[in-house]
Amino acid sequence: MAKHCTIIQGGMGVGVSNWKLAQTVSKAGQLGVVSGTALDQILARRLQDGDQGGHMRRALEAFPFPVMAERILKTYFVSGGKPAGTPYKTIPLLAKDNPRELAELCIASNFAEVFLAREGHCNAVGINYLEKIQAALLPCIYGAMLAGVEYILMGAGIPLKIPGVLDLFAEHRRAEYGMHVVGALEGDNTTMHFNPADFTECKLGSLTRPKFLAIVSSNTLATTMVKKASGRVDGLIIEMRTAGGHNAPPRGKLQLTDAGEPIYGERDDIDIAKLRELGIPFWLAGGYGHPEKLREALSLGATGVQVGTAFEFASESGLREDYKRDLLQKVISGTAHVFTDPLASPTGFPFKVAQLEGTYSEPELYAARPRICNLGFLREAYRTSEGDIGYRCPAEPTTVYASKGGNAEDVVGRKCICNGLLANVGFPQVLNGQRVELGIVTAGDDLVSIAQFLPPGQSYYSALDVIAALEKGCSVLST
Ligand SMILES: Cc1cc2nc3c(=O)[nH]c(=O)nc-3n(C[C@H](O)[C@H](O)[C@H](O)COP(=O)(O)O)c2cc1C
Repeated sequence: MAKHCTIIQGGMGVGVSNWKLAQTVSKAGQLGVVSGTALDQILARRLQDGDQGGHMRRALEAFPFPVMAERILKTYFVSGGKPAGTPYKTIPLLAKDNPRELAELCIASNFAEVFLAREGHCNAVGINYLEKIQAALLPCIYGAMLAGVEYILMGAGIPLKIPGVLDLFAEHRRAEYGMHVVGALEGDNTTMHFNPADFTECKLGSLTRPKFLAIVSSNTLATTMVKKASGRVDGLIIEMRTAGGHNAPPRGKLQLTDAGEPIYGERDDIDIAKLRELGIPFWLAGGYGHPEKLREALSLGATGVQVGTAFEFASESGLREDYKRDLLQKVISGTAHVFTDPLASPTGFPFKVAQLEGTYSEPELYAARPRICNLGFLREAYRTSEGDIGYRCPAEPTTVYASKGGNAEDVVGRKCICNGLLANVGFPQVLNGQRVELGIVTAGDDLVSIAQFLPPGQSYYSALDVIAALEKGCSVLST
């Protein structure tokens, strides 16, 4: 059986788990994971900011398709960076049939992030995707595989068909993927295709077929993934409701606490004994960023843990320095708070939001933002009255959403987290030439305990401090 790492540094989108963080973790012998979400935007914006350090250009130089790399540089690179206060270029939004420009950006950006994370060491690196951002999956996965990614981790949906895609891409063969289209009728064409041969500029040898880890939040889904996937599933990550980012909603009718957070019950708990019976490696995630929790996970038969929040605030992560500093200060002063918002995400899934002044966690700041959907990662595909595929997002202008058949009630409380998440990592769009998008920070309930990683007398910590602290949970077990 393959030897896996004990600690997985979770993929945190957008751009929080960047190549620097993943490289640091992998170099230290644990599994560093980059977030594969919105890397097309991130590459384009890094280039427009002048590519400080030259990392993007270095990665593109190593890209096996130089003509494509040149096209991207020509389109997006701005020497010295775009003038402050000017907007980033718009990129076509993801759709069933992506324009070539977008597919190329997806391939090259995923290549670049993995290439950089793998630089300077021989250890494994993974990439995380959200199944629900379906229109990006095929070109992004192919790009990451071109760079030799060793693990693909995917949740936020049911990625049953992904293992088979990995098998095909390892041989540069054409793959397809069904898009979920609300209201689609039998016979509608909802299948996306990606043929590497349409993009390759030279003959390439076989690629490594990455290991596939499915991220799930229930025993049912765990069993389905193992029994029904289109190819090998190498492991499972079991994500509990305390985890940062999106959470699975509670089973049954949604009930809220007085503060407005979802109430979970026993039916939402995971049966670890049943999980063990599946006979494949599993990692526990959500509140496991503590040595004693790692020890507990190992004693339950887990291969290890996946940790996000602790790494989010490490100095190597992509989160804006001021957000890191201010939230760490709140943790130290005992005023940090994470709200599990049942409405904020356009996906309709609960989304954890760290409360921070100057971000869209403040209702009045969000209310002052004009409703607009200009990134579209979380758009929902629907069948139009003409039988075509349309796209809608409950964070777009209410009338527009309603005109696309969206339920006007669904827009209440929804926030444009696409723009917020890009702003979190230093790439805020400028609206109407004046309004700069603010961030919206997500973090797990574990936020309140991250000060444990601060070395004495220091106001920041490294991913290596997190690993050193967590590894104490392994060594106690083995003595
Ligand atoms: C800032 C942040 C962003 C996240 N983004 C994603 C994501 O894009 N995809 C995903 O599968 N999980 C995401 N997660 C979940 C992590 O990968 C990980 O499973 C989780 O953070 C573990 O729980 P913990 O936060 O208690 O350590 C995110 C978590 C955080 C804190």
